[in-house]
Amino acid sequence: MDEISEMDRRARAILGANDRGGYTVPTDGLYPYQWNWDSAFAAWGFGRFDPARAWAELETLFSGQWENGMVPHILFHKADPGYFPGPEVWGCKGPLPSSGISQPPVAASFARRIHEADPALGREAMARLWPRFMAWHRWFMTWRTDEAGAVCITHPWESGRDNAPDWDGAMARIDPAGVGEYQRRDTAHVDPHMRPTKYDYDRYIWLVQLGRRLGWDEAAMARENPFRVADPTMTFTLLRACRDMAALGGELGRDTGEIEEWITRLEAGAASLWNEALGSYDSRDVHAGTWSGAVSNASFLCWYAGLENARMLERYDRIAAAVKYAVPSIDPEHPLFDRKRYWRGPVWAIMNALIGIGLHDMGHRRRAEALRRQTGELIATRGFAEYFDPLDGSPAGGGAFTWTAAVWLAWASDSAEQY
Ligand code: SER
Repeated sequence: MDEISEMDRRARAILGANDRGGYTVPTDGLYPYQWNWDSAFAAWGFGRFDPARAWAELETLFSGQWENGMVPHILFHKADPGYFPGPEVWGCKGPLPSSGISQPPVAASFARRIHEADPALGREAMARLWPRFMAWHRWFMTWRTDEAGAVCITHPWESGRDNAPDWDGAMARIDPAGVGEYQRRDTAHVDPHMRPTKYDYDRYIWLVQLGRRLGWDEAAMARENPFRVADPTMTFTLLRACRDMAALGGELGRDTGEIEEWITRLEAGAASLWNEALGSYDSRDVHAGTWSGAVSNASFLCWYAGLENARMLERYDRIAAAVKYAVPSIDPEHPLFDRKRYWRGPVWAIMNALIGIGLHDMGHRRRAEALRRQTGELIATRGFAEYFDPLDGSPAGGGAFTWTAAVWLAWASDSAEQY
């Protein structure tokens, strides 16, 4: 057996401990089910030492795909009273008990990487998964792009950046009266200062109740849901996923004409997320036509999407210099910056990995390498936390976290594939 470092061994052990048989939970207790983009990162990590297990992760994720192509953000494989809101609150009718919204589509990009590591195995898995990926991406293009071609979210959880200031304007227009009594479980696992507020939670649950009342029918939700925000996370990751699918499809001899059309449309959508006054990519409230006005770590996914932008490099350099550990989830100069509160300040290793890959791909190698090394140092010294305080590196949120372990194995460690 190859010699592996102690950190690599610990990272593999976290993936092993969070493995529930064909899928991996993000962390024991706080998140006891299969989450969509967490699983995609897990597959990337498994791909470094067990490609067959990596493909199993993605296949299990797609076993929950709805008839309309949507791949839910949570699959409730086994009931767990330690999490709220569970399947009874969502009231969905997919092939497995699930949530009714999706999450950033990073899975195809990791599938391409896992395929490259073992093309024979990859060809076999992709023969099954290709139509699944196409149906999921087509669902985004059909139901979730706005007139400009940007990808919109219908619930803050869909973006993966639950309590980012990006959603504050749209959330403020929701009156959650009638949401009823409910008991949060997250704050029993994690310090409430590191989690979203009750104000946010009331609106999260109100939106779930609305979706349920509308039978999770996309046409009805497009008409009636007051929350519709064009999101850089979704737009940039889907654009990148389509580029990766086009490349992979070329190798697998697939027709990629439809994907090329999506790419053109998503490029226009990405351009529509440029907030000139802020000098940054930003989130846009579709109903109100207003910007969020915050530079977020999702703004810096532009390079990952293959888009060059000199002003974003300036923003990046200023923000990276303002904190000890880049990339904070929002600009530390923003009045809502909150160093430990989930997506309002903390550093997330997964976002750093995507930003770093993007910087590298666009030729900004020095910045990419500095970010990779800083992220590696953070994980090596502070552990496999869910997220970290950007000012002093303290670990925050859940511990023994799958996606932080996966990012270590696949990108941040010196033994990783890296880019
Ligand atoms: N991230 C959400 C939670 O904290 C759901 O996706 O439960």
